[in-house]
Amino acid sequence: MLTIAEQKISSTDLSKIVRFVDDYSGIQLSDKKQSMVEGRLRKRLRHLNMANFKVYTQFVLSASGKDEVIHLIDALTTNKTNFFREKDHFDYIVKTLLPKLVSQGIGRTRPLRIWSAGCSSGEEPYTLAMLLSEWNETHAPLDFEIIATDISISVLKKAKQALYTEKDIEPVPIDMRRKYFRRSIQDPNVLQVSGVVKNQVSFGILNFKNKIYRLPDKMDIIFCRNVLIYFDKTNQQDIINKFCQLLVPQGNLFLGHSESIHGLKLPLDLIGQTIYQKHDRVQI
Ligand SMILES: C[S@@+](CC[C@H](N)C(=O)[O-])C[C@H]1O[C@@H](n2cnc3c(N)ncnc32)[C@H](O)[C@@H]1O
Repeated sequence: MLTIAEQKISSTDLSKIVRFVDDYSGIQLSDKKQSMVEGRLRKRLRHLNMANFKVYTQFVLSASGKDEVIHLIDALTTNKTNFFREKDHFDYIVKTLLPKLVSQGIGRTRPLRIWSAGCSSGEEPYTLAMLLSEWNETHAPLDFEIIATDISISVLKKAKQALYTEKDIEPVPIDMRRKYFRRSIQDPNVLQVSGVVKNQVSFGILNFKNKIYRLPDKMDIIFCRNVLIYFDKTNQQDIINKFCQLLVPQGNLFLGHSESIHGLKLPLDLIGQTIYQKHDRVQI
């Protein structure tokens, strides 16, 4: 009998998994990803003590396997992220966007609201929280709220723990590292985001394939970077439409640098490198 390490997924089971993942999450895996799917699902086979991919596929697609779905999605999402990833977006926020929003009374008459959608392990929303904390040290303080969501429970768990390695925090400017990270007493190689920054971000689970995105308010800024690249045009149109409904007029959407809304019909203008602004007074 073959060991789990030697097992291969059949093309029929791979197609079933690929189709299911697309329907459930919008992520396009393509049948070419066979070795990636095998590699990532072997851990689930071992964990569940299952003999092969056929048994696993039958289980996860059956009613009795519905609790396994979250682990399947967890295993197959790509979670690469960094602090200050695509740094010019953060420069734009500090140099251009915040002065404009402040002049409109946002952050004073009501909180500035930011959503990091597809936040992975938290580096993106914590970068935003650090920048706003920095801003508040040198300007009249802004009231702000940052919501961060993802489909994957394992990255959300990591994000809530807010524990990073020295290597993880290398992109953070040195003065901000000193201010916003504390070395763990238990493990000196681990750094924790300080309470001031950590408490400014609320994390939650949200699947972009949901019909409705339940957020407490309309957003001034939505970050959805390096996520939609895994989706087809139909899903991209549907998801960005929902983002537009959740943005205030003139609110801003930030996509990843390799993403674009080219060919989609949306009430958005391009105002910077993958930075979009919602049309004023638009009703959609
Ligand atoms: C490559 S990471 C990007 C993280 C961060 N935005 C950045 O740019 O560094 C993509 C994230 O999107 C999440 N994701 C994938 N499909 C999703 C879906 N259907 N709903 C919500 N999040 C999803 C993944 O779990 C992953 O954490």
